[in-house]
Amino acid sequence: MNVFHIVGARPNFMKVAPVMNALKTRKHVQTLIHTGQHYDANMSDVFFEQLCIPAPDVNLAVGTGSHARQTAEIMTRLEPVLLEGKPDIVLVYGDVNSTVASALVCAKLGVRVGHVEAGLRSFDRSMPEEINRLVTDQLADMLFTPSEDGDVNLQKEGIPAERIFLGVGNVMIDSLVKLLPAARRHNQHGLPEGSAERYALVTLHRPANVDNGIILKRIIQSLLEVSQDLSVIFPAHPRTRKRIADFGLHAGQLQIVDPLSYLEFLGMQSRATVVITDSGGVQEETTYLGVPCLTLRENTERPVTVSLGTNVLVGRDPDKLRSELSRVLAGNAKKGTVPPLWDGHAGERIAVLLAGSTTC
Ligand code: UD1
Repeated sequence: MNVFHIVGARPNFMKVAPVMNALKTRKHVQTLIHTGQHYDANMSDVFFEQLCIPAPDVNLAVGTGSHARQTAEIMTRLEPVLLEGKPDIVLVYGDVNSTVASALVCAKLGVRVGHVEAGLRSFDRSMPEEINRLVTDQLADMLFTPSEDGDVNLQKEGIPAERIFLGVGNVMIDSLVKLLPAARRHNQHGLPEGSAERYALVTLHRPANVDNGIILKRIIQSLLEVSQDLSVIFPAHPRTRKRIADFGLHAGQLQIVDPLSYLEFLGMQSRATVVITDSGGVQEETTYLGVPCLTLRENTERPVTVSLGTNVLVGRDPDKLRSELSRVLAGNAKKGTVPPLWDGHAGERIAVLLAGSTTC
């Protein structure tokens, strides 16, 4: 089978790696396309190195732009590549602009699409990712869901049952399981192995949190409060760093650093006292690691991290952040369990399903 994979942004590199690996052992012809949505070395290249993903066969180099422009650029540049390569199926990952743009091109060309991480819903259409999820799932021919809530969401949206491949598990956790030992050996930011230093690890990049000066200022103030109790290490997304500078915000004793590599960040998460984030993937990784996660969002498309995992939605309420942090510091953090099928074998299950898919 001639399989194309399309990725473009940081959260999807760890999703494609296990699927490519699993397909490799089944001897499919695979082509990897990078849209170029993320292009900085520390947002892209380092993930390819550490996750042993082969260099992309094609880089569309679309770069940054408005949503319409970025999506349109990907579509325009991808179409001739698909026409020439004639894939049997194209796999798209997650919920970024690269995902929806690729699914649209495939659907128009009549090329089969598989969506890895289908069915997740925040039910918040002000999130660009929610629009990307809804559209991609409507267009995809094979929908691989990470958890039961995804299956239910897709059924409610009228997606035919034969397209839904129930709960294959979480491919992002496949990468985590594989690389956690190496990540734990990684020496981050001067923290020695087994270091007792307590710290909060922070990530923040959602437009709803960082693009508005008043909201971002409030969040930074809350984080400064946190820093009175423990060190705050804040690997900042380029968008966030720029906004902090644009709005002239003072980050005080927050340790703002460049985006970390996969191994560095995973190692840091595994040893954190608490993680404060607005990322989707980080909510999942902390649940697997059993590390307390306080999410600066009102909703999540990954409800299993709240119902089963360590995740608590604190929204933008500084009081809630304060009270949840006190629980953590008092040793009463929410306990969680690892959700079903987060076992490191999701990529293999997808490979089996692809092999059994008669129309490929
Ligand atoms: C994208 C995804 C988001 C994901 C996030 C992870 C969409 C709609 N959003 O958001 O779901 O959680 O990636 O990071 O697809 N930039 C750089 N260097 C880079 C990449 C981006 O400087 O390598 C800057 C650019 O100035 C750009 C900004 O970051 O304007 C935003 O990048 P973009 O890819 O548009 O969206 P993200 O916020 O990264």
